[in-house]
Amino acid sequence: MRLLVCGGAGFIGSNFARIRARDHGDDVVVLDKLTYAGRRENLRDVEHRFVHGAIEDPAAVAEAIDGADALVNFAAETHVDRSIAAPDAFVQTQMEGTYALLEAARERAVRYVQVSTDEVYGSIEEGSFTETSPLNPSSPYSATKAGADLLVGSYVHTYGLEGAIVRGSNAYGPYQYPEKLIPLMVLNALHGDALPVYGDGMQVRNWLFVEDFARGIGRVLDHGLPGEAYNVGGPDECANIEVVRRIVELTGADESVIEHVPDRPGHDRRYSLSSDKTRALGWEPQVRFAEGLERTVAWYRDNGWWWEPIRSGEYRAYYERQYGRALG
Ligand code: NAD
Ligand code: TYD
Repeated sequence: MRLLVCGGAGFIGSNFARIRARDHGDDVVVLDKLTYAGRRENLRDVEHRFVHGAIEDPAAVAEAIDGADALVNFAAETHVDRSIAAPDAFVQTQMEGTYALLEAARERAVRYVQVSTDEVYGSIEEGSFTETSPLNPSSPYSATKAGADLLVGSYVHTYGLEGAIVRGSNAYGPYQYPEKLIPLMVLNALHGDALPVYGDGMQVRNWLFVEDFARGIGRVLDHGLPGEAYNVGGPDECANIEVVRRIVELTGADESVIEHVPDRPGHDRRYSLSSDKTRALGWEPQVRFAEGLERTVAWYRDNGWWWEPIRSGEYRAYYERQYGRALG
């Protein structure tokens, strides 16, 4: 099929585009604004047509969607800490961008999959969220993602758009921008820098290897029902401090580089998803956290060409703003 992948130059979108072009023979078109998080290098081994533009720009969307059978929307501002510091881009991309894509998909009867997050359900102390759990987002990031989910639902309900939503848990793996926990800690550990753990480090995340996430999204694209949401959760949960300790071991760093810093405001304590509904479509995660983390550390160790330009660019300024004071 001809598949439009919005935000396909980012972490999960590029992994998804690679799998669809290589294993499914899809004719992939990528629409991406190339924000700080989007990079053409992420797609260097993926056959695709590239359209440089914002999802909130109807002209760019019209150019990219031409002839598409389906659209998967990954494009978003994705980092919780940045959403706390400056929510405006989150509102613009998540709300106005999703709206522009929905309009274009509706006009042309293009099948639509919205990539969303477990964070729309909020934090859960015990048990796991199902697709019928109420949306209760806590950060500007998760609130704008929840808003986009609701807009998608309204287009299905009102206009009969053939649309579905996939809610993934915390993803990790190759090509993840090093603002997120795992790549940040891996690169800092490899450089002997401090590892900044927020608060007590006992917050729990449900870790999902990026290829498992990509396959789950593909499963929903090919077999999901219109109007439905599908959870795609990783096979293992782990407290942040434990993740960081494992990274210290895998990189051979010294435990003394672990530093507790002030907690993130409004920090969600635990995320956990039940993915039974997606499993019923024939998907299941294949990569356990121990294996995926080892593969991820090896990838960052072997691919300095990918992260060296990042660490010397915009990221430096972001890192100083975010961590400078806390780490002295
Ligand atoms: P990312 O930050 O690595 O990539 C986002 C991509 O979107 C980049 O290529 C960026 O250039 C592009 N983009 C941003 N704003 C745009 C706009 N206005 N128009 C066009 N392109 C734009 O993000 P990611 O981690 O790959 O996440 C992809 C999607 O998956 C997001 O929707 C995110 O909410 C969701 N998600 C992520 C995780 C996770 O753990 N990373 C978990 C669950 C769901
Ligand atoms: P993150 O990768 O930002 O994902 P999310 O907030 O979307 O779950 O963070 C994962 C967890 O790691 C979260 O509990 C916050 C914590 N964290 C730190 O302790 N230190 C850090 O430097 C970062 C980036 C995250």
